[in-house]
Amino acid sequence: MDKYVIDGGKRLCGSVAVQSAKNSVLPLLAASILTEKRVVIRETPGISDVACMAQILRELGADVRFSGGNATIDSADACCHEIPSSLTRELRSSVFMLGSLLSRFGRALIAYPGGCDIGLRPIDLHLSALKRLGVSISERDGFIFCECAKLRGADISLDFPSVGATENILLAAAKAEGRTVLTGAAKEPEIVDLQNFLNAMGAKVAGAGTDVIEIEGVRELHGAAFRPMKDRIEAGTFLFAAAVCGGEVEVVGASPENLRLPLHKLRENGCKIHAKNDKIIIESRGRLKCNRRIETMPFPGFPTDLQAQATALNASCAGCALIVENLFETRFKYVPELQKMGADIEVKGRTAFVRGVGRLHGASVTAGDLRGGAALVIAALGAEGVSEVLDLSHIDRGYADLRTKLKKLGADIRRVHI
Ligand code: UD1
Repeated sequence: MDKYVIDGGKRLCGSVAVQSAKNSVLPLLAASILTEKRVVIRETPGISDVACMAQILRELGADVRFSGGNATIDSADACCHEIPSSLTRELRSSVFMLGSLLSRFGRALIAYPGGCDIGLRPIDLHLSALKRLGVSISERDGFIFCECAKLRGADISLDFPSVGATENILLAAAKAEGRTVLTGAAKEPEIVDLQNFLNAMGAKVAGAGTDVIEIEGVRELHGAAFRPMKDRIEAGTFLFAAAVCGGEVEVVGASPENLRLPLHKLRENGCKIHAKNDKIIIESRGRLKCNRRIETMPFPGFPTDLQAQATALNASCAGCALIVENLFETRFKYVPELQKMGADIEVKGRTAFVRGVGRLHGASVTAGDLRGGAALVIAALGAEGVSEVLDLSHIDRGYADLRTKLKKLGADIRRVHI
């Protein structure tokens, strides 16, 4: 088990390049088995979630190779429709495999998916949408068995714009017989990326990025090479780190359009932001002030995946902030760890009341989930004195080279094997 040792209080300066988006690459990997032809996904990030998804594809019989940062998937010999529970429990995104497996083999057996412990995370929307496409589903002992003679296009309406359910429907409907019209779809940029990838494979998907997506099923998909979008959450994490530490940082790769609300909130804190094309420059000087209120919402609202980082920032600003988490039930589990660093935060249900204390102090804290872990790193970077962030396995799920990138910006951060 590894830990970070961080001597806080160093200003961050310089330029940092953003990795490809975790939440895009994972569904793209799931999509790769929709064809028997070779698929190349360029610039895949070296994160453990990608390694886990690659392992799932290998268990199905696909050949997955990483070379020069590119993933090449050849699933001509894939024949298995079962995903071992050890892997699905580790990676929630394995739920996307339902749509892909049904499309490829007409059946799928997976254990209930795992992932970050941030809430109940049911998959009822995925399952009822698949039923609409003609799938029969049985659940027993933590396993889901899905089967269909033929996937048939249908009109589907989601009661809530679930990202994963939207992506699963795209995957299942791409080769279904006839037309699928999905209303109430999630509008996240990663869904647009999945649409573009499927279309590059010969699918006919239109409307991603809006709440109505139309999929005209095609008989076959062919191979493709695709460069995924950049990771808006990693970009946001560096921006919040720079805000906490002070300094001037250029974040290169992510579209500012995909980070509108976080950028607006950082300006409210008192940061100067210059954004153009794929570059965002943040300048943070002097003491920042708290946001009055941040409320997480589906895209284009404030992303739940940046909620913890924003809370870490507010904890070290002046004033008071109200942070409301609308997406996941238990996404404030990192708060007791921030309190060890001197943060004054009170959590009631889905709301955190933050009283900014100016500067946090170093402490030994444990990362319990991916983004909560990133928030602890940010807090430690800005704190006075030395901190250690224990259990990096969650952080490794989503951030490649985090230490190297932060060190290049001037942070004093070491990774220590314990
Ligand atoms: C994806 C992202 C995750 C992000 C989240 C919200 C990936 C791999 N993960 O997760 O990083 O935090 O979007 O932006 O892309 N829900 C149901 N029933 C369902 C499905 C979802 O009730 O069948 C609920 C969930 O419990 C949650 C909310 O809907 O409260 C949002 O979930 P969803 O949009 O599906 O998130 P994920 O796809 O799991």
